[in-house]
Amino acid sequence: MPVRLLFVCLGNICRSPAAEAVFQHLAEEAGLASRFTVDSAGTGGWHVGDQADRRMRAAASARGIAVTSRARQVAADDFERFDHIFAMDADNLRALRALAPPAGAHKLRLFRDLDPEAPGEDVPDPYTGGPEDFDEVLDIVTRTGRALLAELTARRDA
Ligand code: 4NP
Repeated sequence: MPVRLLFVCLGNICRSPAAEAVFQHLAEEAGLASRFTVDSAGTGGWHVGDQADRRMRAAASARGIAVTSRARQVAADDFERFDHIFAMDADNLRALRALAPPAGAHKLRLFRDLDPEAPGEDVPDPYTGGPEDFDEVLDIVTRTGRALLAELTARRDA
């Protein structure tokens, strides 16, 4: 059974689709794609059904990474459908904690707890920013995604 990972931000059009696509790309590069199922969702519902933000798709495409997800809102049964749920920032971690059934709370983590350069920080929301902010998100999710892939494969979860 693949290990099932869910990345969650607010709108599910910038940060979590990037984390999803970058992690998929890293797993493919490492020949480990069959060991994982990845998805993303938003705690907010404003963008449900939308493609990822065009600026994020462009920034990722420049790195050879396709961001193809459509936005959806996180749901209580995600705590059954996934093994690990990663919040992109502390606000979304709080929102997920409020939604988690008691048996699912242990699946929740702040994504950047795994960031080797700045553990415990938020992935900054690039929505109102410029191109450099989208690039910064990609830098963060790439190095944190590498650390996550290393952790999950070392633990033989995957
Ligand atoms: P995301 O960015 O949470 O990284 O997808 C945002 C996208 C949209 C909004 C906020 C954040 N919004 O308010 O519409």
